[in-house]
Amino acid sequence: MSELKQDSIQSDQVWMQRAIALARLGQYSTKPNPNVGCVIIKEGQLVGEGFHPKAGQPHAEVFAMRQAGEQAKGATAYVTLEPCAHYGRTPPCAKGLVAAGVTKVIVACPDPNPLVAGKGVQILKDAGIDVEVGICQAEAHQLNQGFLKAMASGMPYVRLKVASSLDGRTAMASGESKWITGTEARQDVQHWRAISGVVITGIETVLADDCQLNVRQLKGVDDISTIVQPKRLVLDRQGRLALNAKILQQPETVMVMGPFRQELADLGVLQFEVQPLKDLLQTLSTQHQIYDVLVEAGATLSTAFLQQQLVDEMISYVAPTFLGQTARAMFNAEFDRMAEQLRFKLIDLTQLGEDVRLRLIPSQETV
Ligand SMILES: NC(=O)c1ccc[n+]([C@@H]2O[C@H](COP(=O)([O-])OP(=O)(O)OC[C@H]3O[C@@H](n4cnc5c(N)ncnc54)[C@H](OP(=O)(O)O)[C@@H]3O)[C@@H](O)[C@H]2O)c1
Repeated sequence: MSELKQDSIQSDQVWMQRAIALARLGQYSTKPNPNVGCVIIKEGQLVGEGFHPKAGQPHAEVFAMRQAGEQAKGATAYVTLEPCAHYGRTPPCAKGLVAAGVTKVIVACPDPNPLVAGKGVQILKDAGIDVEVGICQAEAHQLNQGFLKAMASGMPYVRLKVASSLDGRTAMASGESKWITGTEARQDVQHWRAISGVVITGIETVLADDCQLNVRQLKGVDDISTIVQPKRLVLDRQGRLALNAKILQQPETVMVMGPFRQELADLGVLQFEVQPLKDLLQTLSTQHQIYDVLVEAGATLSTAFLQQQLVDEMISYVAPTFLGQTARAMFNAEFDRMAEQLRFKLIDLTQLGEDVRLRLIPSQETV
């Protein structure tokens, strides 16, 4: 490869990294819309930049084009996700870029949304704009794991959070579980909740902990009211959720799967009939635009998600402590043979205070 070509790829990556950093500014507020960032570069200088802040507000490209104005003519636009091709709450960005006069568009991730899927790129190419797709694609994909999976498959991206001791225990036999991990790990959980459309839990966790599962504090966010809170979904097949449970203090953001209860409907709680977990996930994605799911439950429900192979990623916090064999295990399936084990692949390992966080994805390898 020539040195000139190498230099240009490197500078493309630098500008795309900036667009990715901008996209991340919307990570807690854009859902159900994706996080998108855009920069416009003319003769090596940044002339416009923007990100999508919230559903209903302009897309990243619009902010960048407004800032660039006349300087967009002959410039290169870097966008983290393929520009949209459809009239939604805002007009199509691909047409906007054509009208602005950019001569080159570099896209990190194609958009599998059937309303876009290649059509954004086609509009640009038809107008004679030079288009490149795939610069920093893996990193840009991380920004919108749920959105991209849901658009391609109709299923949300499911993260399972577990906090355990060194001996893999998640609560004492009595149900007492406060606190196994330290403040930094618990603070980190707030981030995963905040990027999720819903936090799913089992009724036994609500009965034991009277938890709320909302976002109360986020690193780098001064005003928590600026974020879009995740819904909280309690799986309660026998209708045992008490009306004075703390989680019902904000009933409009609570969902319950269980037998229909008029008193919950009166509070404004959205109810789902009892159904298999896979169907429930599909309903959340296709009918409620919930693309990122965080499961924060005890061993019973966590095991059900794992055994039904519905977990895309496990976020496992491990505290340097032993809770002993009468404490509850994190996984309660019974296996007899090594061949039955559920194996994961480590994708990230981070120390948080005294604890460690492992991010794991199901391993494709057979043992
Ligand atoms: N360390 C951690 O990360 C962590 C996180 C959360 C909770 N916990 C602890 O875990 C303990 C509770 O654990 P748990 O295992 O008893 O409760 P759980 O997993 O939170 O809830 C289990 C209940 O969920 C209901 N459920 C609904 N649909 C289900 C499905 N498809 N599959 C399985 N269950 C379904 C079942 O009750 P019905 O049959 O009545 O519907 C089941 O008994 C608490 O002590 C809590 O503090 C620890």
